[in-house]
Amino acid sequence: MESTLSIVKPDGVRKNVIGNVVSRFEAAGLKIAAMKMIHMTKGEAEGFYAVHKERPFFGSLTDFMSSGPCVVMVLKGENAIKKNRELMGATDPAQAEPGTIRRDLADNKEENIAHGSDAPETAAFEISYFFNAFEIVG
Ligand code: CMP
Repeated sequence: MESTLSIVKPDGVRKNVIGNVVSRFEAAGLKIAAMKMIHMTKGEAEGFYAVHKERPFFGSLTDFMSSGPCVVMVLKGENAIKKNRELMGATDPAQAEPGTIRRDLADNKEENIAHGSDAPETAAFEISYFFNAFEIVG
């Protein structure tokens, strides 16, 4: 059993596709172990994406991530990290496989609907950034 953090980003909430994204996780056999809607401040988005702070897109990414509410989730299952990333598709929706979340729903590589942890260590950091132990079931 593995856990990963998923975010439906502000563009996904604005487009009314929260359920669309969540239903893909459920159909793939991932379990929702925690879920809540939050609206990050700019500082909270900067803390979450601190690993990208030297990137040229850091300012605009954190503006975007704090521009409206997000849905943050813990997904659990076998190979949850990889499964989630396969369901999302490539960062740039134009490069993502047809049938993936980003190809089907996203506009560009910044506003790309969903985030998913990329490794067990980042999943541990990202889950603990939003959830405490009492908020995660299973
Ligand atoms: P995410 O999986 O949340 O991880 C980092 C985010 O940075 C990524 O999705 C995109 O939203 C964003 N991102 C990555 N590369 C670029 C880029 N070249 N330009 C703008 N945003 C980017």
